[in-house]
Amino acid sequence: MPTNLANQWVLVTGASSGFGAAAARAFAREGSKLLLGARRVDRLEAVATEANKAGSPAAHVHALDVAQTKSVNEFVAWVKTKTDRLDVLVNNAGGAKGIDPVAQAKDEDWEFMMQTNVLGVLRMTRACLPLMVNNPGSTILNIGSIAGHVAYEGGAAYCAAKAAELKITQALRLELSGTGVRVGTIDPGLAETEFSIVRFKGDTERAKKVYEGINPLTAEDIAEALIWAASRPPHVCIDEMLIKCTDQAAIHKVHRRTK
Ligand SMILES: NC(=O)c1ccc[n+]([C@@H]2O[C@H](COP(=O)([O-])OP(=O)(O)OC[C@H]3O[C@@H](n4cnc5c(N)ncnc54)[C@H](OP(=O)(O)O)[C@@H]3O)[C@@H](O)[C@H]2O)c1
Repeated sequence: MPTNLANQWVLVTGASSGFGAAAARAFAREGSKLLLGARRVDRLEAVATEANKAGSPAAHVHALDVAQTKSVNEFVAWVKTKTDRLDVLVNNAGGAKGIDPVAQAKDEDWEFMMQTNVLGVLRMTRACLPLMVNNPGSTILNIGSIAGHVAYEGGAAYCAAKAAELKITQALRLELSGTGVRVGTIDPGLAETEFSIVRFKGDTERAKKVYEGINPLTAEDIAEALIWAASRPPHVCIDEMLIKCTDQAAIHKVHRRTK
């Protein structure tokens, strides 16, 4: 029997935009109760309003900076005021900053990528596990990337960060063996969200070019995969899922239409 997500407690990090916001809306349509975190609380509140309209019986928001242990611990203390059990944890907060080769790259860009994509996942998981280990069938879904599988020029730190996310997922899968807690990674390729705007530090024209002439994945495509993985029967664990748009045959082979 598939897992019924209605009334399940679902925590999504990075729910203010892109995959996280789409995941919040998608779990809301399943009737899940939501705990949404990100740094931009005004954006989270707008997502929660949409989630309520879409059918979530409870959509709660709280500021969260996964790059700070203190913020993660405060967030999870707040979560514990709402529920003593977590059914789904979506570790989605993260992204890329810059596309400089190592020779020119900046410390602050590396630090952002390691703090969010790597340490953020570790911190959130450590803080949430006490709410999950006595709840067999609960699910941790980490958002990785095709970049964690294949390196590309200018992506050294981002590829390293997402490769680390993959290894964290695999280590957790082993550590949680016997608890019934499921752990998996959903690894998208090119998807049009605010990802490239963040990577190019607000240069929207440059960001748009990334998707020129292709039909990229959408945030909703990834949200559907999250729903599918979380709703498998408790004895089924989706360990890894690599999802690319049809136009992206490989990281360096993207079919672009010219008008
Ligand atoms: N789009 C793609 O092509 C693609 C492909 C593969 C993997 N991914 C991964 O998918 C995930 C989501 O990205 P997206 O494409 O949806 O991009 P996005 O639209 O830029 O969303 C990123 C989310 O992460 C949050 N975030 C960033 N730093 C944070 C921090 N320190 N603490 C808490 N939240 C933080 C942002 O919220 P605030 O700014 O409000 O904090 C935002 O909600 C990321 O892990 C990204 O690396 C993206």
